[in-house]
Amino acid sequence: MNAPAGVLHFPARLGLGTWMMGESRAARSREVAAVAHALQVGYRLFDTAELYGDGGAERVLGEALLDFGRERRPELFIVSKVKPAHASRSGVLAACEASIERLGCAYLDLYLLHWRGPQGFNQTLQGFGDLLQRGLIRHFGVSNFDVEDLVRWREAERSLGLGAGAACNQLYYCLQARGIEYQLLGWQRAHGMQTMAYSPLGRGELAHHPGLARLAKARGVSAAQMALAWSIRDADVVTIPKSADPQRIEENWGARELVLGMHELAQLDQLFPPPRSKRPLAMV
Ligand SMILES: NC(=O)c1ccc[n+]([C@@H]2O[C@H](COP(=O)([O-])OP(=O)(O)OC[C@H]3O[C@@H](n4cnc5c(N)ncnc54)[C@H](OP(=O)(O)O)[C@@H]3O)[C@@H](O)[C@H]2O)c1
Repeated sequence: MNAPAGVLHFPARLGLGTWMMGESRAARSREVAAVAHALQVGYRLFDTAELYGDGGAERVLGEALLDFGRERRPELFIVSKVKPAHASRSGVLAACEASIERLGCAYLDLYLLHWRGPQGFNQTLQGFGDLLQRGLIRHFGVSNFDVEDLVRWREAERSLGLGAGAACNQLYYCLQARGIEYQLLGWQRAHGMQTMAYSPLGRGELAHHPGLARLAKARGVSAAQMALAWSIRDADVVTIPKSADPQRIEENWGARELVLGMHELAQLDQLFPPPRSKRPLAMV
């Protein structure tokens, strides 16, 4: 039996990414204000990582959260990630404690292994198990894992007899990058693992895509909104666009209520073709 994936209850299916934040002192107050604005608008899901700005993005987020109120912590869903270089049993613990300290958030809702590194999965999983036991994380998961990685990860979970398994795989997924539809998304669905789509705007490119802009205009929305609505058209996917611009933060937030029709989805398939053929799901 696979360890059951912990069920994630996201406060919304759209959150705020923070890559490229916390990298320069000059931008700091603008970035803190932008995250504070996101909180005001209604964002509750935030994605960050120890890697981003070498802890700087976590500090930006932590500063913005100061005014939100400690008693309101349960409203938030905070995701951070450990670098593979820190993914030993003791390394995970130290890295997580440092992230929580920078964020000032008492615990993480979801802690991810940023990508597969040289460290054996057992070590990382033992570290995640310790963190769960100490109440420092609510769930754990992975990022940038393909099917083979997930199969090996599940084997490691089984061998350790963990009560709950990886709940989520955070993956590059947008109209311009649909590779995960080929096999990975299906595997995750079959194994009850949720998907968090990163770079859902193609790192900003989709907001300026002429074909997408034409379709979006016909619907009375922006290209960015259409790209984001597409990324969460299935209920088991959440999306985390990054913006440090208050207006764009509001614009992106509007996308979570946009439901695309069959005709629009077909037009998007024409513009951004899905992977050619789907391999049968590996029975693993
Ligand atoms: N697990 C991983 O390995 C991994 C890898 C990459 C990213 N991520 C996570 O996913 C998050 C999102 O991905 P991403 O930052 O790579 O790319 P993205 O969200 O696809 O795009 C962000 C870029 O788009 C711009 N933008 C945002 N909203 C816009 C709008 N409405 N109109 C026009 N431009 C807009 C932003 O600029 P402004 O800030 O100036 O608005 C920024 O340059 C990251 O921040 C990070 O938290 C995870």
